[in-house]
Amino acid sequence: MQILGFSSVNLQFHSFIFAIAIASCFVRVSSSSNETDKSALLAFKAGITEDPFGVLSSWNNTVNLCQWYGVTCSRRHPNKVTVLALYSQKLSGSISPHIGNLSFLRVLLLYNNSFYHEIPPQIGRLHQLRNLSLANNSLTGEIPKNISGCLDLFNVELSGNQLSGEVPLEIGSMAKLRFLYGSENNLRGSIPSSIGNLSSLEEVCLDNNYLGGSLPRALGQLTKLSALVFPQNRLSGTVPPSLFNLSSLKGLDIGYNQIHGSLPTTIGFGLPNLEFFSIASNQFVGSIPPGIPNNATKLRVFQLGTNRLSGKVPSFESSHNFQIFSIQLNHLGSRGSGDLKFLCSLTNMTSLLVLSVADNRFGGPLPRCIGNLSIAIKQLLFGRNLIIGEIPREIGDLVNLEILSMENNNFSGAIPIDLGNLQNLVIMSLYYNNLSGVIPSFLQKMKRLLKLYLSKNHFHGHIPSHLDNCSLTELDLFDNNLSGSIFPAVKTLLYLNLSNNHLSGALLVEVGQIDHLDTLDISGNIFSGEIPSTLGDCNALVVLVMNNNHFQGSIPQSISSLRSIEELDLSNNNLSGEIPKVLLVLIFVYVCWLKKKKAQEPTSSSVAESWQNLSYGTLLKATNGFSSTNLIGLGSFGSVYRGILQENGTNVAVKVLNLTCHGALKSFKAECEALKCIKHRNLLKIVTVCSGIDYNGNDFKALVYEFMVNGSLEEWLHPCPIPADADGPSKFLNLIQRIKITIDIAFALEYLHNQCHNTIVHCDLKPSNVLLDAEMVGHVGDFGLAKFILESTSYTNTNISSAGLRGTIGYAAPEYGMGSGVSIEGDVYSYGILMLEMFTGMSPTTEIFKENFNLHNFVEEALPKRVLEITDPILVQEVESNAGQSRKGTIQNCLLMIYKIGIACSVGVPRDRMSITDVTAQLCSIRDRLYAAGL
Ligand SMILES: *[C@@H]1O[C@H](CO)[C@@H](O)[C@H](O)[C@H]1NC(C)=O
Ligand SMILES: *[C@@H]1O[C@H](CO)[C@@H](O)[C@H](O)[C@H]1NC(C)=O
Ligand SMILES: *[C@@H]1O[C@H](CO)[C@@H](O)[C@H](O)[C@H]1NC(C)=O
Ligand SMILES: *[C@@H]1O[C@H](CO)[C@@H](O)[C@H](O)[C@H]1NC(C)=O
Ligand SMILES: *[C@@H]1O[C@H](CO)[C@@H](O)[C@H](O)[C@H]1NC(C)=O
Ligand SMILES: *[C@@H]1O[C@H](CO)[C@@H](O)[C@H](O)[C@H]1NC(C)=O
Repeated sequence: MQILGFSSVNLQFHSFIFAIAIASCFVRVSSSSNETDKSALLAFKAGITEDPFGVLSSWNNTVNLCQWYGVTCSRRHPNKVTVLALYSQKLSGSISPHIGNLSFLRVLLLYNNSFYHEIPPQIGRLHQLRNLSLANNSLTGEIPKNISGCLDLFNVELSGNQLSGEVPLEIGSMAKLRFLYGSENNLRGSIPSSIGNLSSLEEVCLDNNYLGGSLPRALGQLTKLSALVFPQNRLSGTVPPSLFNLSSLKGLDIGYNQIHGSLPTTIGFGLPNLEFFSIASNQFVGSIPPGIPNNATKLRVFQLGTNRLSGKVPSFESSHNFQIFSIQLNHLGSRGSGDLKFLCSLTNMTSLLVLSVADNRFGGPLPRCIGNLSIAIKQLLFGRNLIIGEIPREIGDLVNLEILSMENNNFSGAIPIDLGNLQNLVIMSLYYNNLSGVIPSFLQKMKRLLKLYLSKNHFHGHIPSHLDNCSLTELDLFDNNLSGSIFPAVKTLLYLNLSNNHLSGALLVEVGQIDHLDTLDISGNIFSGEIPSTLGDCNALVVLVMNNNHFQGSIPQSISSLRSIEELDLSNNNLSGEIPKVLLVLIFVYVCWLKKKKAQEPTSSSVAESWQNLSYGTLLKATNGFSSTNLIGLGSFGSVYRGILQENGTNVAVKVLNLTCHGALKSFKAECEALKCIKHRNLLKIVTVCSGIDYNGNDFKALVYEFMVNGSLEEWLHPCPIPADADGPSKFLNLIQRIKITIDIAFALEYLHNQCHNTIVHCDLKPSNVLLDAEMVGHVGDFGLAKFILESTSYTNTNISSAGLRGTIGYAAPEYGMGSGVSIEGDVYSYGILMLEMFTGMSPTTEIFKENFNLHNFVEEALPKRVLEITDPILVQEVESNAGQSRKGTIQNCLLMIYKIGIACSVGVPRDRMSITDVTAQLCSIRDRLYAAGL
């Protein structure tokens, strides 16, 4: 079950696209040899490389061409082809340019095949062509400009190819064009204004391209336009007001662009026929004009989500046709009591299926009229607002409801008994409210219920004893006051979190029957008894957290068979005996062993608290909907966006994990764990993390960091070539700056290696992971590969299965390539290479370094005589211009010492490498010498 997202809604738009009649008109007589078309068709056949259904086998000399499959000839002119229809035949090949010789061709339908290469420009010679569909192929190249020679064309379908280039200006001369479809291509440039000359145009669909610029004003001249479909492009600017006066418009979809401005207050006046309206995911501001509901009475789909709309939501009394009403992720509402009154005006909409007002500023109680909403409604989404009061029991009348999402509000009181009528419920999400009372037993009767989220409330009493009647996959009850010894061993569970309650009793042996369980967190309860050995049967377990309970006895050896485990915490119990062998064989992202630690510092738990608060929606807002203009980098497992948190205006960098990327989830967890316990001025500070689902129901994980205005060290060491005409300072680090940054990084490493609770190995130290703040202070970031090392060992002989997860070529220690485990010495190696790079200006990954010749050897060979020769020329220049023979000597000496440190850090044998503590001490003394010399 997915929460309905915009994209799925957008798909529905196609049901608005009306059947296209093929006009048949009188054909002008033209004299032409009767063999021309036959040879043109044979040339077309010759371009086809695959014909799995054999439809072209009939195209042979024993059969008249007018009987060939897919061919229709003119009645008046024998052997003249008027229709070529070879759609959905799995044909592969290129479209022969000889097709331009079919001078009588009126209809060419090749859609839903695998034609590749370009659309031949000879198509422009088909002066009779009316209907052209090449949609859903693999065509490349540009839309031929001379398509405008087909003056009779009324239908052009090019959607679903890989066409690039711009929409040709020339298209404006096709006076008869009524339907233009170019969706899902790679079209760039802007929408030509000449489109305004297409006075017959009824539908234009160019969604899912890279079109930029603004919507041309001339679109407002198209008085017959019924569908304007441009979502998922890069359009900016404002909407020409004339567009809102096109009374013929039935569908207006400009979602997922970067369009700004406000909706005109009179909107609706001119759009009486509007059925589908989406401006979702843009940058609209201002309020929702009251004219929309009053005038656009035929509206069925209404999507204003993910903008910056504010103010009061008008009442929609005169609209009866809504199916989807989505205003989520805006700044709507006043945090006040009358905010949700408009919901009552939606009760006349008998077909309403989806109602989402999530992620706004709606306050006050939910009105009871909500029970009068359409009985058809399937999704009610109220999450992340400021709604207070009880959950209206009338919601229980909406018996077709599948998703009830009310999380992150201030709902109080008990869950009304009437909700027991919601027998179709699939997701019930009520977490993070002030709800109290017991967990109602009617939940056990909801056969379709898959996800139940009740965490962070004040529920007390027992967990219902027969939740196993449902097919729950996720059960989230943490942070409540639940007690009793009922353990919900529901066999279908994937995720079970009961942490921080007062649950007692033993962990049932039945836990072993939850075959697909991947997360089990029962920490912070008073569970007791022995850990059942059946736990070892939960083969899918990735996270097993049982700390802070009263478990006793020995740890069952069966735990060693948990192959997927990444996080294990059994601390703060009364466990004894041997640690199962396997636990040194596997790499754990986080191992908190039997050691009895005090409860975590209040700081870290309060950080954890605030982590819960940040929603996907908040980040979406902060980054302008993850817009490409906010994209500042592509990291190892995702993209990094610049953003501004609305709450306090903080500048942040948001790293969004690409969860389809192998290892991304692991990396996310590693980074969260690493950053949870560490704090140092030379480490990149994490502001918060976000772990939730996006509006398409997919998992979403992101890390939010302090924004570093000066970007990464990489950009300073290897700046992109600056165009000659560009002004502004070029990026350059002087000698002192380089030394200071080198020291900053060393401090960060020293902290990670020696001063943290656990030793942390960064594993991916390189210039792009060092960020510079406004004062040019270095901050080490990207802990995506960080590993915790068990206490007291600094070098583990662990065997890591996936070699890809051990740093970056050029910086990764040589022993990592030979199957060695991660170690602090590995970090020191990377540090040494980074240092050499900082002063030579040579990247360890340039082509000259291959096989056994690397940056380390390159510097070593040059010492001590050729110090200046190998130094970054731009630094040498600085030294030269600083004149004075003695000062020059000091600098040269310091460089020599720096290189020696770099070499000592990057020697081949791990144990021979310099310790990071010695590195910092020596570098500081070098820095002080340079200061003393007046630098
Ligand atoms: C032209 O078509 C006619 C009728 O199909 C046929 O009899 C004639 O032989 C064709 N001419 C040539 C030159 O092939
Ligand atoms: C199509 O027409 C062009 C130009 O008139 C000619 O050169 C070409 O040979 C023709 N192709 C076929 C297959 O007859
Ligand atoms: C020509 O096409 C016809 C109709 O499909 C078929 O029966 C015949 O075998 C084909 N002849 C040759 C020589 O392929
Ligand atoms: C596309 O062609 C394939 C193969 O003939 C067919 O199975 C499929 O239904 C067609 N799809 C559409 C949307 O016409
Ligand atoms: C359109 O909406 C405006 C503003 O709400 C209202 O005054 C006007 O009567 C409406 N016009 C129609 C035709 O419903
Ligand atoms: C429902 O529609 C009727 C008839 O159009 C109207 O009189 C009534 O006020 C509407 N009710 C609500 C709650 O909007």
